[in-house]
Amino acid sequence: MKDLKSLNKYLWRYRGRLTLGFIFVALSNAFAVLQPRMISQALDLVLQDIKSIEMAEGFESQALISSNLSSSLLSYGLLVIGFALLMGIFMYFTRQTIIVVSRLIEYDLRKDIYDHYSKLSQNFYRKSKIGDLMNRIMEDVSKVRMYLGPAILYGINLTTLTVLVVSFMVSVSSELSLYTLIPLPLLSVSIYYVSSIVHKRSTKIQQQLSLLTSLAQEVYSGIRVVKSFVKGKQMGNYFTDQCDDYKSKSMELVKVNAFFFPLMMLIIGISTIFVIYFGGLQINKGNISAGTLVEFIIYVNMLTWPVTSIGWIASIVQQAAASQRRIDEFFNQKPQILNGNITDFEFEESIEFKNVSFVYPDTGIKALENISFTIKKGDRIAIIGKTGSGKTTIAEIILRTFDPSEGEVLIDGKPLESLDLLHWRTLIGYVPQDNFLFSDTIENNIKFGQNDATLDEVMEAATKASIHKEIAELPSAYQTAVGERGVTLSGGQKQRTSIARAIIKDPEIIILDDALSAVDANTEQVVTNYLDQDLKGKTVFNITHRINPNSEYDQIIILQKGHISAIGKHEVLYHSNSFYKHLIDHAALENLE
Ligand SMILES: Nc1ncnc2c1ncn2[C@@H]1O[C@H](COP(=O)(O)OP(=O)(O)OP(=O)(O)O)[C@@H](O)[C@H]1O
Ligand SMILES: [Mg+2]
Repeated sequence: MKDLKSLNKYLWRYRGRLTLGFIFVALSNAFAVLQPRMISQALDLVLQDIKSIEMAEGFESQALISSNLSSSLLSYGLLVIGFALLMGIFMYFTRQTIIVVSRLIEYDLRKDIYDHYSKLSQNFYRKSKIGDLMNRIMEDVSKVRMYLGPAILYGINLTTLTVLVVSFMVSVSSELSLYTLIPLPLLSVSIYYVSSIVHKRSTKIQQQLSLLTSLAQEVYSGIRVVKSFVKGKQMGNYFTDQCDDYKSKSMELVKVNAFFFPLMMLIIGISTIFVIYFGGLQINKGNISAGTLVEFIIYVNMLTWPVTSIGWIASIVQQAAASQRRIDEFFNQKPQILNGNITDFEFEESIEFKNVSFVYPDTGIKALENISFTIKKGDRIAIIGKTGSGKTTIAEIILRTFDPSEGEVLIDGKPLESLDLLHWRTLIGYVPQDNFLFSDTIENNIKFGQNDATLDEVMEAATKASIHKEIAELPSAYQTAVGERGVTLSGGQKQRTSIARAIIKDPEIIILDDALSAVDANTEQVVTNYLDQDLKGKTVFNITHRINPNSEYDQIIILQKGHISAIGKHEVLYHSNSFYKHLIDHAALENLE
């Protein structure tokens, strides 16, 4: 239960509506409880008047008594209908307040979780499974809502109704009340027992279902690999096995569920028999009237649903507590990248890496070791090195996806950590190595970082990235939707779309991480030429495997296993660094071909 405490602040936020809801529940129940009272009085009246009518046989007053009886019955009937209507109206208001509050809190909670997600660092994402993150924001929040809405609603309903009904019963006949209420705890306990079995089994079903979902998702995302390795049948068989498992788990649940209603009916039946038997004895003794007995029978039936719901509420509360624990677990994750407080700044002079080392926290791999270099604003930098040498890591440190483990990065002499993170990132156009396109139109993908860009600007950016012609040839040009992960575009087209997305922001600093690896040498040359012209005055980091001998760089950084093995200009490196010379000669050869 203590896990649910963290929800109190949300409940407090809507205290006004909740209080109203409580009042409505109480009113609705009050009108519900009044109905059996009316029925009982009507019945007693009928019994009494029938006797009088019999006795008045042959007298004139007989007609009078019977017309009196029918008009009183009519007014009792109208009262019952009136109370039922009022009960219904207040029930409607109850749902309009309490259930609405639960939806509002659900919204707030999801929003808070989303905000928190977006603050958490890359490391958190590497460690967590997407499915798990999705589950927390969707499933767990829904379970918590079941507590906030239905569980609270039925909880209050149960309490007020029980208090009202029991006090009404006791005021009529305390002895009969006792007999009536004896079987109810039994009902409650057995329902709780059954519903905890139901809960256990449905959890198993839920787990199996998410396994099935992720299995299907994986097969469909990797369908090309599955087909090309002729694994379709094997995957199919595995899927069928899992489906069988799901089916048998569902069957187990059906078996328990099948018990639920008969059991409830049995216990209600027993209760009613108790009332009739003991009530009959009381009538015989003249302690109570027949109307009272009927009233009691209705009360028993009124109480059964709330009493049944105790078990149900208990299991909702349990599930909500478990879900809230998972949500809190994640709220307790502190963002590792903290925002700096200098908000008003421009990038004016330089980026300096000062003895930067970086160890990936989860694997302990030392990706960078004692890296130092200074870059002036407007410089063009190439970062080259073998795979795994730490190139992408440098880009991520500039972007503050990670902070250095040792050393520091200075921007215009100020520590990068002291700058406002979001503002810093708006200055950078980044083309990541594993570029990602959203399932949206090409236009929207390109203007992702620049929502107010016009179509002309989008086209201009695409032209600079040398992708405009290819997009224009597509059936719906810029409105062409690219499917999940942009399957309709080739690797090289995706890369260039990604470049267009980075340059439309007109950023001060641009980082291209292997951004042209999937295009042929000619296209690369075209794009590079465009970029050379367009990005004059901008600070450009070009992380690459293939270095173009014609491009001019102010500095070329050669990385080897996480440290800088050489840094300098082309002329110097060409004569002093064999790795670099080899790269250039190789590229020159490729160009000749
Ligand atoms: N998220 C991560 N968690 C743990 N280790 C990582 C992570 N990313 C990279 N590494 C490790 O850090 C080292 C440097 O990786 P990095 O991605 O910076 O290399 P790279 O030079 O960009 O290589 P490539 O040319 O293949 O893109 C590698 O040994 C890699 O295994
Ligand atoms: Mg890389």
